[in-house]
Formats: sequence, C-alpha cells, structure tokens
Amino acid sequence: MAQGNVWFGKDGLGVPRLKKFLTASPRGLTPETLWTANDVGTNDHAKKHIQTLFPGEPPFDTPKPEALVARIIQVASNPGDLVLDPYFGSGTTGAVALKTNRRFIGIEAGEHAATVAAARLRQVVDGEQGGVSALVDWQGGGGFDFFCLRQ
Ligand SMILES: C[S@@+](CC[C@H](N)C(=O)[O-])C[C@H]1O[C@@H](n2cnc3c(N)ncnc32)[C@H](O)[C@@H]1O
Repeated sequence: MAQGNVWFGKDGLGVPRLKKFLTASPRGLTPETLWTANDVGTNDHAKKHIQTLFPGEPPFDTPKPEALVARIIQVASNPGDLVLDPYFGSGTTGAVALKTNRRFIGIEAGEHAATVAAARLRQVVDGEQGGVSALVDWQGGGGFDFFCLRQ
C-alpha cells in the first residue's frame, strides 16, 4: 500500500490486486505472446457468465472465461479431437469443446461436477448463448455422458 502497488480497480472499490513488476521477478522463460483481457476475458467475466447460468446460487470461485479456453483449444486441437481437462471445475472446457466441435473428457473431484459442470453442459447442449456462443454461432446439439466413480 505504501508503495502504491495495490490496485482497487478503476472505481477504487474493487477486490485489491497486487501489482507485480518484471524487474522484481526471477529470470525465467520470457512469454512470447500476450493475450489481453479484451481478447480472452477475465475471471470476473467467467464468474458473471456462471451467475447468468445459475442465478441466485452461490458462485463457483475459480471459473475461466470461455474465450480463453476457446483460444487454447483452437490453437492446440482440431475439430473432432479429444480434449482432456482433469480439473473440470465449472465445466468451461467441456462447454467450449461442445461449442467448437471437439470431444472432451472432464474429471472433477467436487460435488459441483454434478451441480455446476453437468448442469451447465445440459444448458450448452440445449443451445446456451453465453460465453463464446455468438462467436462460434452455437445453436446447441451434441451431448455427453456423466459417470460417478465410487469406492
Ligand atoms: C481452478 S478449478 C478449475 C476451473 C475450471 N477450469 C473452470 O473454468 O471452471 C480446479 C478444479 O479442480 C478440482 N480438483 C482438484 N483436485 C482434483 C483432483 N485430484 N481430481 C479431480 N479434480 C480435482 C477442484 O475441485 C476444482 O474444481
């Protein structure tokens, strides 16, 4: 705070974020690309998207924006490929895989596998219009199987 390195957003009322400077970072691999929030969204965009899917329900804490996952999937795979997300969370990877015509396997240890991820994917199959839907002209379709592993 004393050094002016804590940022509270444009209006000064946001969640505090710590500014980090390259000079203070350990030397490592230099990133060769920059994906800005304008291009691939933010965690805040992702949270708001999830809230529109499940209004009034407790928010999922760590969703990723569909635009970010879509860019990763489009760079790293082709239509029809199988995408694995072993930390499925709210199901962003599955939602984007469906919308971009990839197959997917998601693994999730939490109860939200059923209450959030699978419930979200059902909306996607039914033509959900948030996230990257407009960008990829998503009209719904496809499907998925849901399995529970028991001891
Ligand atoms: C950061 S979140 C994933 C967010 C997700 N990519 C999204 O956009 O919603 C990480 C998830 O991994 C799950 N997880 C952590 N350890 C796990 C494990 N050993 N097996 C399966 N899931 C696990 C957590 O329950 C959590 O939902």
